[in-house]
Amino acid sequence: MTKEQLDESVAYLRDKGFHEPEFGIVLGSGLGKLADAIETPIVAHYNHIPYFPLATVEFHSGQLIYGTLEGRRVVVMRGRFHLYEGYDLLDVTYPVRVMHQLGIQKLFISNAAGAINLNFHKGDLMLIEDHINLQGDSPLAFRDVASFGDRFVDMSEPYDPDMRRHLETIAERLKIRLRKGVYASVVGPQLETRAEYRMLKVIGADAVGMSTVPEVIVANHLRLPVIAVSVLTDECDPDNLQAVDIRDILDVANSTEPKMIALFMALLKEL
Ligand code: HPA
Repeated sequence: MTKEQLDESVAYLRDKGFHEPEFGIVLGSGLGKLADAIETPIVAHYNHIPYFPLATVEFHSGQLIYGTLEGRRVVVMRGRFHLYEGYDLLDVTYPVRVMHQLGIQKLFISNAAGAINLNFHKGDLMLIEDHINLQGDSPLAFRDVASFGDRFVDMSEPYDPDMRRHLETIAERLKIRLRKGVYASVVGPQLETRAEYRMLKVIGADAVGMSTVPEVIVANHLRLPVIAVSVLTDECDPDNLQAVDIRDILDVANSTEPKMIALFMALLKEL
């Protein structure tokens, strides 16, 4: 990644009409429908944007969509990049840097995750309060990082407290149960063993997934306030582990998605 490449990606999008978006939104696996609500959308396919990584996973449609939601100018990633597709962390987080350079002031992220905390259930939403990076690498571990911002980024409050408070108030008002907890990111794509689920519980994770943490690290690098919500799609009980099918995970993500959309729409309106 170079500054020139970022400039070229951004120039392409500005030329297409991506004019000063206020909010960036990353939609996780099975969570793409919010994009259908965008008014006067302009669609850029990932494989047409210069220097964007190419989308590979079949259930991701791979589009960056600009338009308005609740009267706010947004840029929405329908489909994200994962380490397990063979990208590196610079690829995975490149779109966050592009959205930032386009002008977003705040970033919302969603993902599908497994519930490690067994008080939580599939179909619940969880507001991420903190995270554990188990991907074995950092999106800031590259030679030239200092020219993009601090290398030793503070992570004492990675998820914006002000937006979190807002979202909790909204959830109460809409009577949507919003759990709170710690998200652990793994590489995947295999799901975890019983022993791994036990470990995740011991180290303090409430949910586990294969995304989000790299984007959040880069958002903090950019001093871009970020919030993230997990849709809990399966219950990871090591003593009673059921075989999971990725299609079931996506089904639960799909059926829970309306609650996530309601929260994000209300947050857009109120911020
Ligand atoms: N583990 C990792 N990622 C996931 C899971 C899980 O159990 N569920 C949804 N994404």
